[in-house]
Amino acid sequence: MTTETISASAAGTWRLGDRTVNRMGFGAMRLMDREHAVDVLRRAVELGVNHIDTAAFYFSARQSANELINRALRPYPEDLVLVTKVGAHRDTSGEWLPQATPEQLRGQVEENLRQLGRDHIDVVNLRIGMNLDRGTGSLADRFGALAELREEGLIRHLGISNVSPEHLAEATAIAPVVCVQNQYGLHARREDDEFVRSCAEQDVAFVPFFAVTSGQPDDRVAEVAAKHGVTAAQVLLAWTLHRGPNVLAIPGTGDLGHLEENVAAGALRLSEEDLARLDPI
Ligand SMILES: NC(=O)c1ccc[n+]([C@@H]2O[C@H](COP(=O)([O-])OP(=O)(O)OC[C@H]3O[C@@H](n4cnc5c(N)ncnc54)[C@H](OP(=O)(O)O)[C@@H]3O)[C@@H](O)[C@H]2O)c1
Repeated sequence: MTTETISASAAGTWRLGDRTVNRMGFGAMRLMDREHAVDVLRRAVELGVNHIDTAAFYFSARQSANELINRALRPYPEDLVLVTKVGAHRDTSGEWLPQATPEQLRGQVEENLRQLGRDHIDVVNLRIGMNLDRGTGSLADRFGALAELREEGLIRHLGISNVSPEHLAEATAIAPVVCVQNQYGLHARREDDEFVRSCAEQDVAFVPFFAVTSGQPDDRVAEVAAKHGVTAAQVLLAWTLHRGPNVLAIPGTGDLGHLEENVAAGALRLSEEDLARLDPI
């Protein structure tokens, strides 16, 4: 595939509420302090990426992901869907703080609006749990606070992150949920194979993070990659997209070459034989 023919649209599309996105998107967590961060964002959009995941807590001493997005992409293309997450937050030195209270969430949403230069956010995920420990306990109060901001028009659609199927049921009873964002990949499936399917049945997108980085180099992945003349990262991304029509990839990179590789993975079709070879990992 030449760089001229690479397009995020080859991965197909999915509807997040009333917005349609290409299933190959982009995660903004790896942009800070990278020489080509602004170019990477502009190139992503040029390649058809119209789903970008970000957070106000993606920042370094010098840069913030939201401000890089603002600088690179404003005025925003009509079809661009920006997705942020609140609930988690860090102090100015970068240390993680305890999970946000319902009262703190408005300030976090407003911070995202300010940094991104928008009057509403397309999708806001409530991120629960600390680090990679799945959230436990009720999210009703916090999700209810975000549902109020949705009613006010600051948020268009809601999602949840680092959660269990029980959290999805709890949130859905309060307000519509368009996506679940969890750690998931060939090497880190946890208990989420079934969750991916049940999200699809409920018309909810499943958005895996760490799809590339989770796990160790693996012979089976290398074999399938060699067969298709692609890289291991591309096989890992394509594998996630094959898990269901509702899976949206958001690989993160600060590297232009990796970006093109990742977007191109949206066109990679794995055979039943490939999938069976990879499945036991
Ligand atoms: N909801 C949550 O709690 C949560 C948590 C973590 C992340 N996220 C979101 O999910 C997105 C994806 O996660 P992620 O960025 O950490 O992980 P990822 O996409 O699995 O991998 C990113 C890492 O892999 C490298 N990489 C990317 N493409 C590559 C390629 N084609 N070949 C080789 N290496 C490659 C990147 O380095 P280079 O920059 O050098 O390419 C980076 O170190 C994040 O950007 C963020 O938006 C959400």
